Amino acid sequence: MDKFVIHGGVPLRGRVQVKTAKNAVLPMMSAALLTREPVVLHDVPRLRDIDTMAKILEELGVVVERDGAGMKLQTRNELNCEARYELVSQMRASFCLLGGLLGRRRKAKVSLPGGCVIGVRPVDLHIKGLQALGADMKVEGGYVIGEADKLVGTDIYLGGAYGSTVTGTANVLMAAVLAQGTTVIDYAACEPEVQDLCVLLTKMGAHIEGIGSPRLVVHGVPELHGAEHTPIPDRIEAGTFMVAAAMTGGDVVVENVRVDHMSAVVETLRHIGVTVLTNGNWIHVHSDGAFKPVDLVTLPYPGFPTDLQAQFMTLLTLADGISVVQEKIYPDRFMHVAELMRLGANIRKEGNFAIIKGVDRLNGAKVMASDLRASAALVVAGLAAEGTTEISRIYHIDRGYEEIEKRLIPLGARIERIRDQKRIAIEEAA
Ligand code: EPZ
Repeated sequence: MDKFVIHGGVPLRGRVQVKTAKNAVLPMMSAALLTREPVVLHDVPRLRDIDTMAKILEELGVVVERDGAGMKLQTRNELNCEARYELVSQMRASFCLLGGLLGRRRKAKVSLPGGCVIGVRPVDLHIKGLQALGADMKVEGGYVIGEADKLVGTDIYLGGAYGSTVTGTANVLMAAVLAQGTTVIDYAACEPEVQDLCVLLTKMGAHIEGIGSPRLVVHGVPELHGAEHTPIPDRIEAGTFMVAAAMTGGDVVVENVRVDHMSAVVETLRHIGVTVLTNGNWIHVHSDGAFKPVDLVTLPYPGFPTDLQAQFMTLLTLADGISVVQEKIYPDRFMHVAELMRLGANIRKEGNFAIIKGVDRLNGAKVMASDLRASAALVVAGLAAEGTTEISRIYHIDRGYEEIEKRLIPLGARIERIRDQKRIAIEEAA
């Protein structure tokens, strides 16, 4: 397994480009199941999750062609409706194939995604929404199986104990666009990635009102057609670079950003005492390395994103006082806490709260990445820590950040990927 070695303490300076959002791209790839015409996506990042999704789609009869950063997906064969455990278990987002399959083929068998290190992640709302549209849904042998003679629009309340559901909304949307009549999804997720899926579906011929609001009204159409689309920039990647710039006392312009998607992040950084200037499609972050403590609660969009909780907690480890972070989306998403403490952070976890008492500095150590965003937090911590930090299991970060080290090095970061010799040997033999 590859690892990162980081010699920290260098302020980041320069400009960095944000890639398109993997969490927007993945459901869009599933939307290619809704038509036999080509769906073309531009500027698709090179990520492990996207490769896995492409593999599953190919098994489902979709030809996926990549040409540089472009991706063309075209359904050629609609016979197989089963997304296998072996692939779905590698990536939870592949569960949003359910809506794409049911929407057009009226048949779907998708493996339950299985356990996840950030906590229990149920799919009851997905099932409830699809059932409401008339699909016969059952869970059998670790698979969710859905069948429908026809899908009929109806009113669906999609809220759960933790608020709205992002991929649940995507699944119900993809089934509703080809249903008969009108579907009203109440408590729909408002996340930019869901909005962007609506934009693509609209380009494909879907009729959706209320995009970006918690009430989506979908007027079903008999068929969709092909479309071309450039997905939105990744707001979580942008936020990660912003925190890295701030925490190292740096000066960085983060480019290719949708500033309107970043309000909670910009506001929070300013409260922490970081200078943040926004303009057009870039954000300039300047920091003198002094940070004020803040209290932070993760919430569905437009609230503070859970996918940046670990990175911000890392920044708060150096604040001048006590910060409290409450995780309201995934109460167990605290795998990074123990690793940050290995670097010298002072954090106490109480239920879904973390109480962070700022320290003067972090010191490099050996740490282990546990999941995608926790790995990003450890990279940020390593960049700011004094001495050398070694992060193992960085395959997690490759799921969501394209070659992050190659984008940090031009900013002055001293980060090196140590490739796994066994993996190199296997690749060379193949
Ligand atoms: C999406 O996951 C993202 N993944 C996650 O990003 C992100 O953390 C999450 O939304 C919240 O913003 C993708 O877009 C591929 P949810 P999703 O359904 O859709 C509960 C990352 O790091 N819930 O919106 O799976 C659930 O347990 C990943 O890139 C139910 O109770 O999340 C959670 O508490 C990690 N029943 C809350 O809702 C359900 O049927 C929100 O989950 C579904 C969800």
